[in-house]
Amino acid sequence: MTFLRSALVASGKTYRTRGISHRVSQINISAIKEMPLIAAKVGGCVSLGQGIPSFPTPPHIVEAVCRTMKENPQSGKYTLGPGLPELREAVARHLRVQCGIEADPEREICITVGAMEALSAAILTVVERGDEVILPSPNYASHIEQVLLAEGVPVFVPLDESSWRLDVEGIRRAITPRTKAIVLCNPHNPTGANFPEEDLRKVAELAVEHDFFVISDETYDFLVYDNESHFSVTSLPELRDRLIATYSFSKKYAMTGWRVGYVYCSEGLLDQIMKVHDAMAICAPTLSQFAALAALEGPQECVSEIRTALQGRRDMVCERLDRLEDYFDYIKPRGAYYLMMRYKIPGVDSMTFALRLLHDARVITIPGAAFGPTGENLIRISFGGNEAEIHEAFDRMERWLSGHPFESP
Ligand SMILES: Cc1ncc(COP(=O)(O)O)c(C=O)c1O
Repeated sequence: MTFLRSALVASGKTYRTRGISHRVSQINISAIKEMPLIAAKVGGCVSLGQGIPSFPTPPHIVEAVCRTMKENPQSGKYTLGPGLPELREAVARHLRVQCGIEADPEREICITVGAMEALSAAILTVVERGDEVILPSPNYASHIEQVLLAEGVPVFVPLDESSWRLDVEGIRRAITPRTKAIVLCNPHNPTGANFPEEDLRKVAELAVEHDFFVISDETYDFLVYDNESHFSVTSLPELRDRLIATYSFSKKYAMTGWRVGYVYCSEGLLDQIMKVHDAMAICAPTLSQFAALAALEGPQECVSEIRTALQGRRDMVCERLDRLEDYFDYIKPRGAYYLMMRYKIPGVDSMTFALRLLHDARVITIPGAAFGPTGENLIRISFGGNEAEIHEAFDRMERWLSGHPFESP
């Protein structure tokens, strides 16, 4: 039972489950979204939970959209299914300059309702009932539900716990004749890992050797710290016909609410993904597409400002955690804005830990179990919130822990 469902059952509300498809009844709303729902009922909570950057959408993007709304009568209408042609061209230019990818804006790019719709459509397109999809784990919670929705079988391959590196040999051992795809996400939500190029190249070799798709979730492609380099499998020509890459404007341009992203893959694949996109969305919201266009064509300092601010918050969170070394271990994030902390309290599962922290200390975190079976005994925190929120959350957590919440009186 999901958290939300247990909360509703406790409140006496009943559920209709008869007639609900197996596909849907077996999936859950991710705990990332459920914890804030519970918190809204509890009240007075401060969040280290969902990955929402505190920054407002940059003013030049907002202004461009306001102008478009006033001056362009097309702005309230559907666009072509794959999106505004000028936006697809801007995306193709961006992919060429930033990622070294030559993408055909007419045949290989589709603008989607965030990376989320791109991922769902991609997975529904290639995964059949019983197909296995490898998820290096802990993994972004929604990748699990997307595979299950397609009636596929998630195959969890633990990351190396001491470094959060990919376990390439583990991935090799997990491959079977039913392996259809692997979902990669680099920089990585939830661990903050920035996977080394050599590991990613080896995974790509496995995909070619064993003929499976690589679905590359590029949501955080801009967000690595300490001037580290970032490698993406999207640059590998050998993956050309088996790669589906999904991108997001949400975090890079502080546009989580605009719901716009895109998918890049070869023409034959995109034709198929487009059918799912049409059935689910028709097109991405038109105004949001204009916002995405302004984001790509406008000044890019906002991206480096976000990165610099988040690196400062990462350091702040690590400092606060170092003071709590009796309670937590962690690996310093090298990208994205998440950290998985392992709590040193035996016999307490991650849901119990996160729910107690929420109810007793009013701090929202995400239980590690939401990120697959290897997430147990871990709690994910996001440092997307502003400095004051982060300090307040840690002050509360420190007070809560000093009261020994899991020891019987
Ligand atoms: C790894 C990952 N993929 C996809 C998404 C969804 O991105 P979007 O807001 O573009 O749908 C998120 C959002 O947090 C994410 O962390």
